[in-house]
Amino acid sequence: MRVDIKKDYFDSEALGITCLKVDVDPALKGLSLPTLLEEMVKNKYWDFIFLSTDHSPEFLEGIQREEFRFISTKNTYQKTISHSESQITHTFKILLKEEIRAKYTMGNISILASDLVVNSRYWKDIRIGRINAINLYEKWFENSIFRDYADEVIGIDLDGRLIGLITLKNKKDSGIIDLIVVSKDKRNCGVGSVLVKEAQKYFLNQGLTKIVVETESENINANNFYIKLGFFMESHRLIFHKQRPS
Ligand SMILES: CC(C)(COP(=O)(O)OP(=O)(O)OC[C@H]1O[C@@H](n2cnc3c(N)ncnc32)[C@H](O)[C@@H]1OP(=O)(O)O)[C@@H](O)C(=O)NCCC(=O)NCCS
Repeated sequence: MRVDIKKDYFDSEALGITCLKVDVDPALKGLSLPTLLEEMVKNKYWDFIFLSTDHSPEFLEGIQREEFRFISTKNTYQKTISHSESQITHTFKILLKEEIRAKYTMGNISILASDLVVNSRYWKDIRIGRINAINLYEKWFENSIFRDYADEVIGIDLDGRLIGLITLKNKKDSGIIDLIVVSKDKRNCGVGSVLVKEAQKYFLNQGLTKIVVETESENINANNFYIKLGFFMESHRLIFHKQRPS
C-alpha cells in the first residue's frame, strides 16, 4: 500500500515551477489517504501537485478535502500486435529519427507541438499558463527527437513539410506510443493510422508484441482513433492538480 510521491524534474524544468507527481496506488484502499496528503502538502516544497488515482471514494474524500482540482481522465489503451495484421498501402514519405534530425529544425517541429498541446491537461489547467504548456511540449518533442528521450521517432513528410510525428519507447514487455500528432489541416486523411502501423512494425522488429498508449477521455477524436485501430481500453485514472495557495 503506497502513495508514490516524487518530484517531476522534466515538468518542473519545462514549466519553471516545482511540480510533484503523486500516483495513488489502487492497493492503498483502507489507508488514510487524507492524512498522507496532509503530510505531503505540509512537508515538501512544491508549486503544483499532479495527482492520479482511481475512483475509490476513500481517496476522493482526501483529495477533495485538500482542494485538488479535477482536470481530466486518462485512458490507457493497449493492443496485441502481430506480423499477420494487414498493412495500409500509402504513398507517404516515412522518415526515422536520424532523418528527421537532419532535415528539420525545432522551428518546424514547434508547430506540431502547438497542434498537440491543446489536447493536454496542461492546457486545460489555465493556472499553468498557456506559454508554459507550449514550452513543455516543445521540450518534450526536442528531447524525443534531438536527445534520447524516445527510442525511435517516425515522421511523415509531404512536399518537404513534416505533417505527422509519433515518438516511441521500448519498455521491457511493451512498446509505448508517447506522443502522436498530425498537422491540423491533414487530419482524417489516414496519416495518423499510417504512423501507428509504422510504429507497430518497429515494435515487432524489437520483439515487442504489446503496444500501450494513453489519452485523455475528453479527446474524443483520439479515443475513436485508437478504437478504430484495434486498441482496447485497459484502465482509466482521474487526474487532479493542486496549486500552492498564494
Ligand atoms: C489523433 C490523430 C493523431 C489522428 O490522426 P489522423 O491522421 O486524423 O487519423 P486517421 O485519418 O488515420 O484516422 C481518423 C480516424 O479517427 C477517428 N476520428 C477522427 N476524428 C474523429 C471525430 N471527430 N469523431 C469521431 N471519430 C474520429 C475515426 O475513426 C477516423 O476513422 P475514419 O477515417 O474511418 O473515419 C489526430 O487527430 C491528431 O493529431 N490529433 C491531435 C493530437 C492528439 O490528440 N494526439 C493524441 C494524443 S494521445
